[in-house]
Amino acid sequence: MGLSKIELRPYSTFPNVYYSGSQNNMKLYTRNICKGIRVYDENLTFFNGKEYREWDPFRSKLAALLLLKPKLDLFLKNHLCLYLGASSGTTISHLSDMLSEGIIFGIEVAERSIRQLIQNTSQRDNIIPILGDANYPESYARSVFTEVDIVYQDVAQPNQAEIAIKNCNYYLKDDSYLIFAVKSQSIDSIEKSERVYQEERKILESSGFEIVESVNIHKFAANHLILIARKKI
Ligand SMILES: C[S@@+](CC[C@H](N)C(=O)[O-])C[C@H]1O[C@@H](n2cnc3c(N)ncnc32)[C@H](O)[C@@H]1O
Repeated sequence: MGLSKIELRPYSTFPNVYYSGSQNNMKLYTRNICKGIRVYDENLTFFNGKEYREWDPFRSKLAALLLLKPKLDLFLKNHLCLYLGASSGTTISHLSDMLSEGIIFGIEVAERSIRQLIQNTSQRDNIIPILGDANYPESYARSVFTEVDIVYQDVAQPNQAEIAIKNCNYYLKDDSYLIFAVKSQSIDSIEKSERVYQEERKILESSGFEIVESVNIHKFAANHLILIARKKI
């Protein structure tokens, strides 16, 4: 993939996020905090002397969410974020561009993925990769040494809501947000997916979370919905 030159505009509600194209045909980018370095095989683009990494919504649910324009301003440059299910680094690397003055604690259970994550993001000082099981938030308390402003979860597990709640109760500041990529377990019908989404919502609500937004990202990721929930005081 080569370097390309395209006119970019800032995506006003998200730090260090830019877009090109029309409203209906947007491409997303983040300003690259590690000049010249790609994390996966993303395109690099130059505009006004700065370098940007193209962000593919088919590879990242967070990019899909941003393209579908959530109403809330969820991130600040200096936010602390707990990322559950960091995998080999695709999405977390773009978050690292966004939270250029913050820290992202990336929890990943698979050893192979964490090895790739470390390799792929070693130049990014604001990512702390942690080998850990998100079912046991207390097990990484020494590494995640602070409360966080945001929890982002993409673990695709049957008990995904329970995992989100446990981690938010342990690490998330009151009145702060969980961004939860819900994977419906039933892949064969829209009705079944909707039922799973309803169940996940109820589990969160009965644990004291307010669902502030629900964004269906099926267009980019089959059987996925993103719930944005506020941890009530
Ligand atoms: C769908 S992938 C995440 C993709 C990644 N969020 C991205 O966009 O680049 C789900 C990841 O969650 C990890 N995972 C599953 N269960 C987990 C658990 N209990 N604790 C931590 N990570 C887990 C998997 O190993 C996998 O890497």
